[in-house]
Amino acid sequence: MELANVVPWGRSFAEYQAMFGLPEDDLKKRILGCGDGPASFNAEGTKRGSQITSCDPVYQFETKEIRRRIDEVYPDIMTKMKQGADNYIWDSLGSVEELGKVRMKAMSEFLSDFDTGRHQGRYVPASLPSLPFPDSGFDLALCSHYLFLYSDHVDEVAHLESMRELCRVASEVRVFPVVSLDGTASKHLDSVVTALSAGGIEVSLQAVSYRFQKGATEMFVAKSV
Ligand SMILES: C[S@@+](CC[C@H](N)C(=O)[O-])C[C@H]1O[C@@H](n2cnc3c(N)ncnc32)[C@H](O)[C@@H]1O
Repeated sequence: MELANVVPWGRSFAEYQAMFGLPEDDLKKRILGCGDGPASFNAEGTKRGSQITSCDPVYQFETKEIRRRIDEVYPDIMTKMKQGADNYIWDSLGSVEELGKVRMKAMSEFLSDFDTGRHQGRYVPASLPSLPFPDSGFDLALCSHYLFLYSDHVDEVAHLESMRELCRVASEVRVFPVVSLDGTASKHLDSVVTALSAGGIEVSLQAVSYRFQKGATEMFVAKSV
């Protein structure tokens, strides 16, 4: 991975709670956030007492390099969000400017926590479809805004291998959203459902309260039975 190709953009703990419907009981579980990037889920969750490990290829870089890249791409992301504003629901975030503030706050919290968390083993540089974790090392794996969303960039084989890998390391896996960037159901959803079901994994789609991208109203849930 080259940092010049990375577009860091991170969500907050509150957004993860809404995307994945996380009640307090879930927050007591051993959680893996896969593809967490510069989200503040781990930083905020750790402060609240949760046991969260995040993995992402971007964690191979230093704090100052990630910070520089965030500052570099931010104006461009804002311009693109303004151009594509009709694809989103603005009820809670209000405006592109407000969204920018919320995202920058989340990413600052991540950056402040990254060095400490890396030494504590809470931020692990790793990429799907191969994770450096033992079988069933986690109770719950969360994957926000990577699988399914980037269905035009991550092919069917990578989706199948990644989902199987997440099911290997965690007894329950949740992925949000299940739509692609255009807001329609991921073209890989059916094959993932078929493959995991055939392997004895219980799969379902569950409605969540989070609303931002139009069409993104459900999370994918896979449970090893
Ligand atoms: C759009 S960002 C989402 C970040 C965070 N999950 C959130 O929702 O705020 C997508 C993340 O997926 C990560 N990613 C890219 N390729 C990956 C892979 N093969 N395995 C795991 N994560 C990957 C990127 O580095 C990036 O941090």
